[in-house]
Amino acid sequence: MIGTLLSDFDITDIITDGRAYGIYKGITVFVDKGVPGDVADVQMIKSFHKDKSIATGKILSLKKNSSLRIPAFCKHFKYCGGCQWQNISYETQLAFKQQQVDTLFSKFPEPFEKLAILPSPLKKYFRNKVTFTFSNRRWMSPEELKDPDLDRRPAGGFVLKGNNDRIMNIEECFLTDDFAVTVMKSLRNFALEKEFSFFDVRHEKGFLRNLTIRFGDNKEVMAIVGFGEDREEIKDVMKYLQVTFPRISALYYSIQPRKECLRFMTPYTHFAGKEFLEYKMEDLIFRTGPASFYQTNTLQAYELYKTAREFAGLTGEETVYDLYTGTGTIALFISLLAKKVVGIDNAPTAIEDAIANAALNKRNNVSFIAGDLKDLLTEEIYSVHGRPDVVITDPPRSGMHREGILRLKTSGAKRIVYISCNPVTQARDIRHLSSDYRLIKSQAVDMFPQTSHVENIVLLEKYAP
Ligand SMILES: C[S@@+](CC[C@H](N)C(=O)[O-])C[C@H]1O[C@@H](n2cnc3c(N)ncnc32)[C@H](O)[C@@H]1O
Repeated sequence: MIGTLLSDFDITDIITDGRAYGIYKGITVFVDKGVPGDVADVQMIKSFHKDKSIATGKILSLKKNSSLRIPAFCKHFKYCGGCQWQNISYETQLAFKQQQVDTLFSKFPEPFEKLAILPSPLKKYFRNKVTFTFSNRRWMSPEELKDPDLDRRPAGGFVLKGNNDRIMNIEECFLTDDFAVTVMKSLRNFALEKEFSFFDVRHEKGFLRNLTIRFGDNKEVMAIVGFGEDREEIKDVMKYLQVTFPRISALYYSIQPRKECLRFMTPYTHFAGKEFLEYKMEDLIFRTGPASFYQTNTLQAYELYKTAREFAGLTGEETVYDLYTGTGTIALFISLLAKKVVGIDNAPTAIEDAIANAALNKRNNVSFIAGDLKDLLTEEIYSVHGRPDVVITDPPRSGMHREGILRLKTSGAKRIVYISCNPVTQARDIRHLSSDYRLIKSQAVDMFPQTSHVENIVLLEKYAP
């Protein structure tokens, strides 16, 4: 079946996680960069599932363009996995995202309020963080392989989806401020001139490994360089960035010698400039260090938080638990409307930042606890902090741990505001909560234009006893 050519294959719809697909002899074939309404010659490249009822395919040639198709604006679109939906208009993207959420939540039997998706204020250049990877071997597209004049030297760019040893050389990117690409290209050229080695992920050796650029408010920039080897020349690289780009206000590096860069990396070393970036929201200032999470779409994060605050319906009398609090941004954002807020996160560095941000903003009705959520919604915690009246929960894409959900059910919270960047796991978790909580309203928020990802917020209310 793998390799089968599907001639004039109809791509008919998108599934609830945003992938386009068509059906071939009962097999659902997901087609990368396909658009519903396309007719294409498609080659099956992988099959999943024991019964082989699910497969993926790639477009060999488009026979008929969907009426929804538009030209992509980035030259890397064909192979880059960063944004799958540049080939449809922003209005169509919003309609598909709304459809994803509506389909998932159509299975809930009781009626609830469906609010229309909130568009992102920026459709391009909205990300405040990007990571480029350097590699000793440049991945080349079939078109590039045929080009005798192509620069075949080591690459700096993005990892091809699912292949951490395939790095595509990047010349432009529209998701983040152009300055990020300018710094990456300049660093790549500097390293090539100096003949520094680029990282070889398979053999875990090589010097230059990755570059993360983060943008704070007031156009401030943090640059974090990852090195595969701890060498004297680190200073040369960092000095080069410091002198060439005075706009970089905070400079860090870390050593990441193993394949899995995050688990085995050294703590970040501060090289020059400020230690934090700052984000202002209403009367709050959030300080964010190199290891801390901050919502990647800065402007839309404010809309997301306002929606969460409104759903929480606070009067000043409630004890609120902010689960998966990160650096405590939601906890602090709602703190003036609550009697008390307790934030929980399993990343100790995030909790350190959360405590520092509470002090910086003089919010003293907020406490933060580091640890795994499923171990912390306990009678012991309630005896110290009180039981929650309202819970705000914002788990990672995998959703909430089953144990955490069971504990949430017995917490006594009257309302739960559930924020998620993956409505598929969100809908699953809400089903598990549905014996005790009723779905009241749902609001999709577009945090990630040009991609199929969608954020969704729901309000749940406890059934009367
Ligand atoms: C989507 S982020 C939420 C960030 C935060 N609410 C915000 O708006 O910035 C998910 C957070 O969950 C935390 N996390 C992941 N698994 C966890 C667990 N089992 N227990 C507690 N926190 C966890 C991560 O450290 C991360 O900060």
